[in-house]
Amino acid sequence: MVKKINTCILISGNGSNLNSIIKSSRDYNFPINVKLIISNNKNAFGLNYGKKFNIYYKYFDSKNQYIFERNCLNEIKRKKIKLLCLAGFMKVLSKNFIKNFKYKIINIHPSLLPKFKGLNTHERVLKKKEIYSGCTVHYVNSKLDSGTIIKKRKILVKPNDSVESLKKRILKEEHKLYPDAIRSIFK
Ligand code: GRF
Repeated sequence: MVKKINTCILISGNGSNLNSIIKSSRDYNFPINVKLIISNNKNAFGLNYGKKFNIYYKYFDSKNQYIFERNCLNEIKRKKIKLLCLAGFMKVLSKNFIKNFKYKIINIHPSLLPKFKGLNTHERVLKKKEIYSGCTVHYVNSKLDSGTIIKKRKILVKPNDSVESLKKRILKEEHKLYPDAIRSIFK
């Protein structure tokens, strides 16, 4: 059996990407194990996956970024975490945090980066009448949605797409892309 890498997933909301990573990680050959889930939103639906799959999960308030990151780092050390995955985590990690975490930090973003960094992606894609959109997994650096790209998936924007329909179709792709990107990192 491959020696799996202890991984922490940071979330703020629904956690559907978290769910897809956990499901993939049950495969014998998948390179990581989700050992820790941290949310900065105590009502995040995604925390339920911690309960459901019996994975250690924590909520930390992130109003004070310094204290939030210190709390995270304590848990990360305790659980011997060697990969951090941001999955719908709505907070930008500080330069210091990124510098001090010796291992990889990756994120998923619902656009074809470097296009449409930041919030309200689908709205902007529709407004610009883009032909394609999609999702991207990338390394995290101190600039928002700007680290080296690991993998992308592309879809066609339909003429009658709404923000909701586009979001739904792209999210489906995200659920395949994130596990694929993790596999490719540790190949
Ligand atoms: C996803 O679209 C992700 O790309 C973005 O936030 C959303 C999170 O969805 N960063 P979920 O919480 O994984 O369901």
